[in-house]
Amino acid sequence: MVGKRRTKKGTWISLLLVCWSLGFGLAHIRPAPAATITPDPAGMTDPVSPAYRLGLVTYLHTCGSCHIALPPEVFPTETWQSLLLDTQHYGTKIPPLLDPDLHLIWNYLQEYSRPTLAGEIEPYTLADSRYFHALHPRVHFTGPVTPNTCVSCHPGAAQYDFRHLSTQWQNAP
Ligand code: HEC
Ligand code: HEC
Repeated sequence: MVGKRRTKKGTWISLLLVCWSLGFGLAHIRPAPAATITPDPAGMTDPVSPAYRLGLVTYLHTCGSCHIALPPEVFPTETWQSLLLDTQHYGTKIPPLLDPDLHLIWNYLQEYSRPTLAGEIEPYTLADSRYFHALHPRVHFTGPVTPNTCVSCHPGAAQYDFRHLSTQWQNAP
């Protein structure tokens, strides 16, 4: 009797151990959260002042989870505002942004982007953004430009580094 009971208990314990180690294993294959990105100031177009650091971190965490986070300089302020307020997102749906995150992110994006000129149409894509093209005087884009294609010329794009260029572009005239 006693022996039987012990084995039962033992089985339960090993079952629990298996579940625990499975959970442990799964936790390890999950991708690292985007919040672990610590941008190198040398890779940023504009250095971010301490007052906007929390906004930057919140932005990277919120808008860098599905694709790389785009730097604010590539779009006019109005485009960022529309993107933050719309859950319909390039054919997909994103969770609505609530305060305080919404304001932290907005303050950061607003500070480091420029407004559109009077009468200018607000661009919705990078390809249509005059600001994106102004940052690329040497580049004539032929293929599609999406958050996934930046890395071909900006090897540090996933770390929010858009200053360091691929060797091909470093040496280009
Ligand atoms: C075909 C190569 C190429 C692709 C693709 C590309 N870039 Fe660039 N990027 C460059 C080059 C080269 C420069 C330097 C400016 C120049 O020479 O035109 C640059 C400069 C920049 C700058 C200014 C950096 C600074 O502070 O001096 C930003 C910001 C930037 N790119 C963002 C992006 C983003 C965001 C994407 C993806 C949506 C992207 N780029 C895709 C080649 C590229
Ligand atoms: C749930 C996933 C998800 C989240 C979160 C997300 N995006 Fe996106 N985003 C996408 C998808 C999918 C696309 C379309 C990708 C493509 O065209 O390659 C996209 C495309 C974009 C583009 C399009 C650029 C272009 O010209 O093609 C911009 C800009 C953008 N996202 C900004 C943001 C901002 C800002 C946030 C934070 C508020 C954000 N994204 C959060 C999924 C997401």
